[in-house]
Amino acid sequence: MPGPRLRGVIEGIPSYKPGRPAAPGGPVSYKLSSNENPYPPLPGVLESVTEAAGSLNRYPDMGCSALYAQLSERFGVPAAHLAAGTGSVGVAQQLLQATAGPGDEVIYAWRSFEAYPIITQISGAASVRVPLTGGAAREAHDLDAMADAVTDRTRLVFVCNPNNPTGAALTRAELERFLDRVPRDVLVVLDEAYREFVRDEAVVDGLELYRDRPNVCVLRTFSKAYGLAGLRVGFAVAHEPVAAALRKTAVPFGVSELAQEAAIASLRSEDALLERVEALVKERTRVLGELRSQGWTVPESQANFVWLRLGERTSAFADRAEEAGVTVRPFEGEGVRVTIGETAANDIFLQVAAAFLKEL
Ligand SMILES: Cc1ncc(COP(=O)(O)O)c(C=O)c1O
Repeated sequence: MPGPRLRGVIEGIPSYKPGRPAAPGGPVSYKLSSNENPYPPLPGVLESVTEAAGSLNRYPDMGCSALYAQLSERFGVPAAHLAAGTGSVGVAQQLLQATAGPGDEVIYAWRSFEAYPIITQISGAASVRVPLTGGAAREAHDLDAMADAVTDRTRLVFVCNPNNPTGAALTRAELERFLDRVPRDVLVVLDEAYREFVRDEAVVDGLELYRDRPNVCVLRTFSKAYGLAGLRVGFAVAHEPVAAALRKTAVPFGVSELAQEAAIASLRSEDALLERVEALVKERTRVLGELRSQGWTVPESQANFVWLRLGERTSAFADRAEEAGVTVRPFEGEGVRVTIGETAANDIFLQVAAAFLKEL
Protein backbone atom coordinates (compact mmCIF):
# COMPACT_ATOMS: atom_id res chain seq x y z
CA MET A 1 0.00 0.00 0.00
CA PRO A 2 1.38 3.42 -0.85
CA GLY A 3 2.06 5.67 2.11
CA PRO A 4 0.62 9.14 2.49
CA ARG A 5 1.48 11.47 -0.37
CA LEU A 6 4.07 14.03 0.69
CA ARG A 7 4.85 17.25 -1.16
CA GLY A 8 7.58 16.73 -3.72
CA VAL A 9 9.81 19.38 -2.15
CA ILE A 10 10.14 17.37 1.05
CA GLU A 11 12.30 14.83 -0.71
CA GLY A 12 15.88 16.00 -0.86
CA ILE A 13 15.60 18.69 1.79
CA PRO A 14 19.05 18.78 3.34
CA SER A 15 18.69 18.12 7.04
CA TYR A 16 19.96 20.77 9.43
CA LYS A 17 23.19 19.57 11.00
CA PRO A 18 23.50 20.75 14.57
CA GLY A 19 27.02 21.45 15.84
CA ARG A 20 28.58 18.40 17.46
CA PRO A 21 28.31 18.38 21.23
CA ALA A 22 31.42 18.39 23.36
CA ALA A 23 32.80 14.85 23.46
CA PRO A 24 31.79 13.11 26.69
CA GLY A 25 34.35 11.27 28.75
CA GLY A 26 37.48 13.13 27.62
CA PRO A 27 39.73 14.99 30.06
CA VAL A 28 38.39 18.39 28.91
CA SER A 29 35.96 19.06 26.16
CA TYR A 30 34.43 22.25 24.84
CA LYS A 31 31.72 22.86 22.27
CA LEU A 32 32.75 25.50 19.74
CA SER A 33 30.42 24.26 17.03
CA SER A 34 27.11 26.12 17.41
CA ASN A 35 27.98 29.77 18.07
CA GLU A 36 26.51 29.51 21.53
CA ASN A 37 27.38 31.76 24.42
CA PRO A 38 29.74 30.10 26.91
CA TYR A 39 28.26 32.12 29.79
CA PRO A 40 25.24 30.94 31.77
CA PRO A 41 21.97 32.90 31.57
CA LEU A 42 22.17 36.56 32.62
CA PRO A 43 21.40 37.63 36.21
CA GLY A 44 17.70 37.44 37.01
CA VAL A 45 16.91 35.02 34.19
CA LEU A 46 16.84 31.80 36.20
CA GLU A 47 14.62 33.42 38.86
CA SER A 48 12.15 34.64 36.21
CA VAL A 49 12.09 31.30 34.47
CA THR A 50 11.61 29.42 37.73
CA GLU A 51 8.68 31.62 38.62
CA ALA A 52 7.15 31.25 35.15
CA ALA A 53 7.53 27.48 35.43
CA GLY A 54 4.89 27.57 38.15
CA SER A 55 2.30 28.34 35.44
CA LEU A 56 3.22 25.65 32.97
CA ASN A 57 -0.38 24.44 33.05
CA ARG A 58 -1.37 27.67 31.26
CA TYR A 59 -0.76 28.75 27.67
CA PRO A 60 1.66 31.64 27.30
CA ASP A 61 0.63 35.17 26.33
CA MET A 62 0.17 34.69 22.58
CA GLY A 63 0.54 38.41 21.96
CA CYS A 64 3.91 38.54 23.80
CA SER A 65 2.73 41.89 25.12
CA ALA A 66 5.20 42.35 27.99
CA LEU A 67 8.10 41.30 25.76
CA TYR A 68 7.01 43.64 22.97
CA ALA A 69 6.70 46.51 25.45
CA GLN A 70 10.25 45.90 26.62
CA LEU A 71 11.64 45.51 23.08
CA SER A 72 9.74 48.54 21.89
CA GLU A 73 11.35 50.67 24.58
CA ARG A 74 14.82 49.16 24.15
CA PHE A 75 14.96 49.57 20.37
CA GLY A 76 12.68 52.57 19.87
CA VAL A 77 10.27 50.77 17.55
CA PRO A 78 6.47 50.53 17.71
CA ALA A 79 5.16 47.33 19.29
CA ALA A 80 3.11 46.80 16.11
CA HIS A 81 6.39 46.39 14.22
CA LEU A 82 7.52 43.49 16.40
CA ALA A 83 6.93 39.79 15.87
CA ALA A 84 8.53 37.13 18.06
CA GLY A 85 8.92 33.51 17.09
CA THR A 86 10.56 30.24 18.02
CA GLY A 87 14.08 31.49 17.44
CA SER A 88 14.91 33.83 14.61
CA VAL A 89 15.03 30.82 12.32
CA GLY A 90 11.38 30.23 13.15
CA VAL A 91 10.61 33.82 12.20
CA ALA A 92 12.63 33.42 8.98
CA GLN A 93 10.50 30.43 8.08
CA GLN A 94 7.34 32.46 8.71
CA LEU A 95 8.70 35.19 6.43
CA LEU A 96 8.99 32.61 3.66
CA GLN A 97 5.49 31.31 4.34
CA ALA A 98 4.26 34.85 3.96
CA THR A 99 6.14 35.72 0.78
CA ALA A 100 7.25 32.78 -1.33
CA GLY A 101 5.98 29.56 -2.86
CA PRO A 102 6.39 27.41 -5.96
CA GLY A 103 7.56 29.45 -8.95
CA ASP A 104 9.14 32.13 -6.78
CA GLU A 105 12.82 32.76 -6.08
CA VAL A 106 14.70 33.46 -2.87
CA ILE A 107 18.20 34.94 -3.06
CA TYR A 108 20.94 34.53 -0.50
CA ALA A 109 24.72 34.54 -0.38
CA TRP A 110 26.56 31.24 -0.28
CA ARG A 111 28.03 30.09 1.91
CA SER A 112 25.76 31.60 4.50
CA PHE A 113 23.45 30.38 7.26
CA GLU A 114 22.65 26.78 6.46
CA ALA A 115 18.97 27.08 7.38
CA TYR A 116 18.30 29.32 4.34
CA PRO A 117 18.35 26.51 1.74
CA ILE A 118 16.28 24.26 4.00
CA ILE A 119 13.49 26.69 4.76
CA THR A 120 13.46 27.96 1.18
CA GLN A 121 13.02 24.44 -0.14
CA ILE A 122 10.22 23.76 2.33
CA SER A 123 8.42 26.85 0.99
CA GLY A 124 8.52 25.43 -2.53
CA ALA A 125 10.42 28.45 -3.88
CA ALA A 126 13.74 28.11 -5.73
CA SER A 127 17.02 29.07 -4.08
CA VAL A 128 19.28 31.46 -5.94
CA ARG A 129 22.73 31.33 -4.36
CA VAL A 130 25.21 34.10 -4.97
CA PRO A 131 28.84 33.21 -4.14
CA LEU A 132 30.71 35.21 -1.54
CA THR A 133 33.35 37.60 -2.79
CA GLY A 134 36.72 38.99 -1.77
CA GLY A 135 38.77 35.81 -1.41
CA ALA A 136 39.80 34.06 1.78
CA ALA A 137 40.63 37.34 3.50
CA ARG A 138 37.11 38.74 3.15
CA GLU A 139 34.43 36.15 2.25
CA ALA A 140 31.67 38.77 2.14
CA HIS A 141 28.31 39.14 0.42
CA ASP A 142 28.60 40.20 -3.22
CA LEU A 143 25.77 42.69 -3.04
CA ASP A 144 26.15 43.86 -6.64
CA ALA A 145 25.80 40.29 -7.88
CA MET A 146 22.87 39.75 -5.51
CA ALA A 147 21.09 42.83 -6.87
CA ASP A 148 21.83 41.61 -10.41
CA ALA A 149 20.24 38.26 -9.50
CA VAL A 150 16.86 39.84 -8.71
CA THR A 151 14.18 38.90 -11.26
CA ASP A 152 10.40 39.28 -11.54
CA ARG A 153 10.16 36.06 -9.55
CA THR A 154 12.25 37.20 -6.58
CA ARG A 155 10.18 37.47 -3.43
CA LEU A 156 12.74 37.56 -0.65
CA VAL A 157 16.48 38.21 -0.21
CA PHE A 158 18.35 37.10 2.91
CA VAL A 159 21.30 39.27 3.88
CA CYS A 160 23.19 37.76 6.79
CA ASN A 161 25.06 40.54 8.55
CA PRO A 162 27.54 39.55 9.96
CA ASN A 163 27.61 36.47 7.77
CA ASN A 164 27.47 33.02 9.29
CA PRO A 165 29.95 31.26 8.91
CA THR A 166 32.55 33.76 7.69
CA GLY A 167 31.92 36.64 10.11
CA ALA A 168 32.20 39.28 7.36
CA ALA A 169 29.96 42.32 7.83
CA LEU A 170 28.51 44.95 5.51
CA THR A 171 28.79 48.70 5.78
CA ARG A 172 25.98 51.21 5.67
CA ALA A 173 27.14 52.50 2.26
CA GLU A 174 27.20 49.00 0.79
CA LEU A 175 23.78 48.05 2.09
CA GLU A 176 22.13 51.34 1.18
CA ARG A 177 23.40 51.03 -2.37
CA PHE A 178 22.02 47.50 -2.52
CA LEU A 179 18.64 48.44 -1.06
CA ASP A 180 18.35 51.29 -3.55
CA ARG A 181 18.66 48.72 -6.35
CA VAL A 182 16.16 46.17 -5.01
CA PRO A 183 12.54 46.67 -6.12
CA ARG A 184 10.23 47.84 -3.35
CA ASP A 185 8.03 44.75 -3.65
CA VAL A 186 10.88 42.38 -2.75
CA LEU A 187 11.35 41.74 0.96
CA VAL A 188 14.95 42.12 2.15
CA VAL A 189 15.60 40.28 5.41
CA LEU A 190 18.59 41.57 7.33
CA ASP A 191 19.51 38.65 9.57
CA GLU A 192 21.40 40.20 12.46
CA ALA A 193 21.72 37.21 14.77
CA TYR A 194 25.19 38.41 15.79
CA ARG A 195 24.58 42.17 15.88
CA GLU A 196 25.68 42.60 19.50
CA PHE A 197 29.21 41.45 18.63
CA VAL A 198 29.76 44.08 15.92
CA ARG A 199 32.47 46.61 16.79
CA ASP A 200 33.30 48.10 13.37
CA GLU A 201 31.43 51.40 13.32
CA ALA A 202 31.06 51.32 9.55
CA VAL A 203 28.85 48.24 9.88
CA VAL A 204 25.27 49.32 9.69
CA ASP A 205 22.59 48.61 12.27
CA GLY A 206 19.65 47.25 10.27
CA LEU A 207 17.19 49.01 12.55
CA GLU A 208 18.38 52.31 11.08
CA LEU A 209 17.74 51.03 7.57
CA TYR A 210 14.31 49.53 8.20
CA ARG A 211 12.78 52.76 9.47
CA ASP A 212 12.11 54.38 6.12
CA ARG A 213 12.11 51.20 4.03
CA PRO A 214 8.91 49.15 4.27
CA ASN A 215 10.50 46.27 2.34
CA VAL A 216 13.23 45.76 4.95
CA CYS A 217 12.81 43.36 7.87
CA VAL A 218 15.40 42.92 10.62
CA LEU A 219 15.85 39.61 12.44
CA ARG A 220 17.36 39.45 15.91
CA THR A 221 17.72 36.64 18.40
CA PHE A 222 18.15 35.95 22.09
CA SER A 223 20.14 32.81 21.28
CA LYS A 224 23.61 34.25 20.84
CA ALA A 225 24.77 37.28 22.85
CA TYR A 226 21.86 36.91 25.30
CA GLY A 227 22.68 33.25 25.87
CA LEU A 228 19.16 31.83 25.58
CA ALA A 229 19.68 29.39 22.69
CA GLY A 230 17.86 26.65 24.60
CA LEU A 231 14.66 28.64 24.99
CA ARG A 232 14.01 29.42 21.31
CA VAL A 233 13.10 33.07 21.08
CA GLY A 234 13.92 35.54 18.35
CA PHE A 235 12.06 38.40 16.74
CA ALA A 236 11.56 40.48 13.64
CA VAL A 237 11.24 44.22 13.32
CA ALA A 238 9.25 45.16 10.24
CA HIS A 239 6.61 47.56 9.04
CA GLU A 240 3.01 46.58 8.55
CA PRO A 241 1.91 44.52 6.67
CA VAL A 242 5.01 42.33 7.09
CA ALA A 243 4.75 42.31 10.88
CA ALA A 244 1.04 41.49 10.60
CA ALA A 245 1.82 38.62 8.22
CA LEU A 246 4.25 37.26 10.79
CA ARG A 247 1.56 37.26 13.42
CA LYS A 248 -0.74 35.37 11.04
CA THR A 249 1.83 32.70 10.19
CA ALA A 250 3.00 32.12 13.77
CA VAL A 251 2.54 28.75 15.42
CA PRO A 252 -0.08 29.58 18.06
CA PHE A 253 1.57 30.05 21.47
CA GLY A 254 4.95 29.14 19.93
CA VAL A 255 7.00 31.34 22.26
CA SER A 256 6.69 29.83 25.72
CA GLU A 257 6.11 31.90 28.85
CA LEU A 258 9.55 30.76 30.04
CA ALA A 259 11.12 32.13 26.87
CA GLN A 260 9.20 35.42 27.10
CA GLU A 261 10.12 35.93 30.76
CA ALA A 262 13.76 34.98 30.16
CA ALA A 263 13.98 37.44 27.27
CA ILE A 264 12.49 40.23 29.38
CA ALA A 265 14.86 39.51 32.27
CA SER A 266 17.80 39.45 29.84
CA LEU A 267 16.83 42.83 28.40
CA ARG A 268 16.80 44.17 31.97
CA SER A 269 20.34 42.87 32.49
CA GLU A 270 21.90 45.06 29.83
CA ASP A 271 25.04 45.89 31.85
CA ALA A 272 25.94 42.27 32.45
CA LEU A 273 25.19 41.53 28.80
CA LEU A 274 27.54 44.24 27.59
CA GLU A 275 30.29 43.02 29.90
CA ARG A 276 30.07 39.46 28.60
CA VAL A 277 29.86 40.47 24.98
CA GLU A 278 32.87 42.72 25.46
CA ALA A 279 34.86 39.83 26.94
CA LEU A 280 33.96 37.64 23.95
CA VAL A 281 34.88 40.41 21.51
CA LYS A 282 38.27 40.74 23.24
CA GLU A 283 38.77 37.01 22.87
CA ARG A 284 37.80 37.26 19.20
CA THR A 285 40.44 39.94 18.68
CA ARG A 286 43.01 37.80 20.44
CA VAL A 287 42.13 34.67 18.46
CA LEU A 288 42.13 36.48 15.10
CA GLY A 289 45.46 38.17 15.92
CA GLU A 290 47.03 34.91 17.00
CA LEU A 291 45.78 33.02 13.93
CA ARG A 292 47.22 35.71 11.66
CA SER A 293 50.54 35.67 13.42
CA GLN A 294 50.58 31.90 12.99
CA GLY A 295 50.25 32.56 9.25
CA TRP A 296 46.56 31.90 8.60
CA THR A 297 44.50 34.06 6.26
CA VAL A 298 41.23 34.71 8.09
CA PRO A 299 38.41 37.12 7.27
CA GLU A 300 37.74 39.88 9.79
CA SER A 301 34.92 38.58 11.96
CA GLN A 302 32.31 40.82 13.54
CA ALA A 303 30.55 37.85 15.13
CA ASN A 304 31.28 35.33 17.90
CA PHE A 305 33.14 32.93 15.61
CA VAL A 306 36.01 32.76 13.16
CA TRP A 307 36.31 31.01 9.81
CA LEU A 308 39.19 29.01 8.42
CA ARG A 309 38.97 28.10 4.76
CA LEU A 310 40.58 24.69 4.70
CA GLY A 311 39.15 23.09 1.56
CA GLU A 312 39.94 19.39 1.46
CA ARG A 313 41.66 19.57 4.84
CA THR A 314 38.43 20.58 6.58
CA SER A 315 37.48 17.30 8.20
CA ALA A 316 41.07 16.52 9.13
CA PHE A 317 41.17 19.79 11.04
CA ALA A 318 37.84 19.10 12.73
CA ASP A 319 39.05 15.64 13.79
CA ARG A 320 42.28 17.06 15.13
CA ALA A 321 40.37 19.68 17.13
CA GLU A 322 38.04 17.07 18.59
CA GLU A 323 40.97 14.89 19.65
CA ALA A 324 42.44 17.92 21.39
CA GLY A 325 39.21 18.65 23.25
CA VAL A 326 37.17 21.15 21.18
CA THR A 327 34.38 20.41 18.70
CA VAL A 328 34.25 22.85 15.78
CA ARG A 329 31.82 23.11 12.86
CA PRO A 330 33.18 21.65 9.63
CA PHE A 331 31.60 22.44 6.26
CA GLU A 332 32.91 19.57 4.21
CA GLY A 333 35.35 20.62 1.49
CA GLU A 334 35.09 24.30 2.47
CA GLY A 335 36.25 25.21 5.92
CA VAL A 336 35.59 25.23 9.63
CA ARG A 337 33.71 27.70 11.74
CA VAL A 338 34.96 27.99 15.28
CA THR A 339 32.93 29.70 17.97
CA ILE A 340 34.69 32.03 20.38
CA GLY A 341 34.19 30.33 23.72
CA GLU A 342 35.90 30.04 27.07
CA THR A 343 39.53 31.24 27.06
CA ALA A 344 40.75 27.70 27.75
CA ALA A 345 38.75 26.40 24.77
CA ASN A 346 40.06 29.14 22.49
CA ASP A 347 43.60 28.28 23.59
CA ILE A 348 43.12 24.65 22.63
CA PHE A 349 41.81 25.71 19.22
CA LEU A 350 44.81 28.00 18.71
CA GLN A 351 47.21 25.19 19.60
CA VAL A 352 45.49 22.88 17.10
CA ALA A 353 45.64 25.60 14.43
CA ALA A 354 49.36 26.20 15.01
CA ALA A 355 50.20 22.50 14.87
CA PHE A 356 48.02 21.96 11.79
CA LEU A 357 49.68 24.76 9.87
CA LYS A 358 53.11 23.29 10.48
CA GLU A 359 51.96 20.02 8.90
CA LEU A 360 50.67 21.65 5.73
C1 LIG B 1 22.66 33.93 10.87
C2 LIG B 1 21.77 33.21 11.81
N1 LIG B 1 20.49 33.51 11.83
C3 LIG B 1 19.64 32.90 12.66
C4 LIG B 1 20.10 31.93 13.51
C5 LIG B 1 19.09 31.21 14.32
O1 LIG B 1 19.10 31.52 15.61
P1 LIG B 1 17.85 31.20 16.52
O2 LIG B 1 16.84 30.45 15.72
O3 LIG B 1 18.40 30.41 17.63
O4 LIG B 1 17.34 32.54 16.92
C6 LIG B 1 21.43 31.57 13.54
C7 LIG B 1 21.89 30.51 14.44
O5 LIG B 1 22.88 29.88 14.26
C8 LIG B 1 22.29 32.23 12.65
O6 LIG B 1 23.58 31.92 12.60
